[in-house]
Amino acid sequence: MCGIVGYVGPGDAVSVLVEGLSRLEYRGYDSAGVAVLNGRGVETRKLAGRIADLRELLTRDPVHGKCGIGHTRWATHGAPTDSNAHPHIDCTGTLALVHNGIIENADVLRRRLEQDGHRFQTETDTETLVHLIEESPGETLEERVIAALDHVEGTYGIAVVAEADRGKIVVARRGSPVLLGVGDGEFLIASDASAVLGHTRSVTPDGYRVLDLEAREQDRAVDDIEWDLDAIALGGYPHFMLKEICEQAETVRSTLRGRLLAADGTARLNGLNLTPAECNSIGRIVIVACGTSWHAGLVGRHVIEELSGIPVSVEYASEYRYRRQLRVPGTVTIAISQSGETADTLEALRAAKATGSKVLGLVNVVGSTIAREAQGGIYLHAGPEIGVASTKAFTSQVVALLLLGLYLGRRRGLSVEDGRALVAHLLALPELVERTLAIEPEVRALATRYADAPNALYLGRGLTFPVALEGALKLKEISYIHAEGYPAAEMKHGPIALIDENMPVVCLAPRDAIYAKVVSTMQEVKARGGRIIAITSEGPDDLSRLVDHQIAVPAAAPLLSPVLTVIPLQLLAYHIAVLRGCDVDRPRNLAKSVTVE
Ligand code: G6P
Repeated sequence: MCGIVGYVGPGDAVSVLVEGLSRLEYRGYDSAGVAVLNGRGVETRKLAGRIADLRELLTRDPVHGKCGIGHTRWATHGAPTDSNAHPHIDCTGTLALVHNGIIENADVLRRRLEQDGHRFQTETDTETLVHLIEESPGETLEERVIAALDHVEGTYGIAVVAEADRGKIVVARRGSPVLLGVGDGEFLIASDASAVLGHTRSVTPDGYRVLDLEAREQDRAVDDIEWDLDAIALGGYPHFMLKEICEQAETVRSTLRGRLLAADGTARLNGLNLTPAECNSIGRIVIVACGTSWHAGLVGRHVIEELSGIPVSVEYASEYRYRRQLRVPGTVTIAISQSGETADTLEALRAAKATGSKVLGLVNVVGSTIAREAQGGIYLHAGPEIGVASTKAFTSQVVALLLLGLYLGRRRGLSVEDGRALVAHLLALPELVERTLAIEPEVRALATRYADAPNALYLGRGLTFPVALEGALKLKEISYIHAEGYPAAEMKHGPIALIDENMPVVCLAPRDAIYAKVVSTMQEVKARGGRIIAITSEGPDDLSRLVDHQIAVPAAAPLLSPVLTVIPLQLLAYHIAVLRGCDVDRPRNLAKSVTVE
């Protein structure tokens, strides 16, 4: 995710900014830049690339000043290019700004500003902010920033400098963190503390003011920071995997942000690049993916078929690419990939394109190869995923597929009432994720009971079959316990032979239309002495005589249930792996992004 740093004081701002930016590298980024004030207007140096590239640029083309701002960008609106990198400057070149977050009404603002004569140099939502401040009235920079923010919808953490108000950085935030580091005669600002710790832990509360959006002065206490840098990168969590599991209420919200149209009961997916005529003529959808993304694809098949009536098949990308690709008119192929770089998925996308299929990408990393080669798609906006075992990307992929199902469904006969009901369920989903995460202590206790199991079986049916596969994959990836996911009713055709009192069987049983069938399977397990862990949804206590343990997630609309039922399975795998002393974030033999065949 993007990072912000700023410095004003007696030292050289550029070296402090670059050091701060390098401390933010762990958050993931694709471009970086700085802007300083030095009496000759605002000078910027920025590029798509690493901090090392920025250092090199600054050596070739140095710039100095005592007040400046810097940024690491993780692209959301617009590809990672030199010009889209922050800081952004206004038409006069005397105002510079960096921004984290998403400006939801950027399109409307941009059209209006362009009509008023502003010249845009980038594709970013952020640039609207700098032009808004440019034309806003006010004696001081802070007055102009406050006036500009009045027009803005969305989330932001921003830092602004202006030649007319030298020696000052104006910072504003809504929903995106920015903190103030108070040093000895100098001030730093940053999106997280790791960027300032090299400079200050001591505090002198002079020389800054905190205002609300009505310009009323606020009282803020100054805190001392005691964490070390590694702990801050992890935000206080012991592992990235746990951090990313716990972020899911926010990442699901982020995937949904600005994409739900409540009155029309549909989704806004501008990046899809499908015309209404193309939507109407889709004859089939083929999903290609690997690993966890393939599991999300299986959920997507169910969701898209249910909502739109379009037939969907889900292919392992590595298998698809070596089969004869059929040229079927009206085919849309969707590549699902967190990284956007998985070699098999990329080649499957290319192969599909060669048959004349329209190709779309469902990708987390903006500007990645799959994102660039697809003709349209949906970005997940889940932020960088660092833990090798994918967690938050899966839930965001499922949410993006729900948005796609809703969008296609509404064009293909789903009623406005049903669309509105789904929109309402999706809006409530982050809150349900939050409540699901609260069951962590129960799952941790359960993990202690099963950390020594040599094998585990995961059963699900319908929408929860892919969740069973994903739960088993998580467990085997990070704890090295052999685990299998199976369709619940298929158990009797083979795996039932494995069941005895040493075999934990995780049964996914949210209370949906197929609940009674899954309960029957649990009875078959019980009759063979298996240990049952039921992942169910809140409801009457009708399982306690049948199962050994139950974890209840909040009740949700059936199509949304995979987003919730997968969370206890992620936590279970995580805690079992920790108890077994495994290296959770770097499991043996696995890679985060598999760019070889
Ligand atoms: C690797 C990772 C998995 C991931 C898979 C597909 O195997 O370890 O977590 O699901 O690749 O990656 P992608 O980036 O294409 O989603």
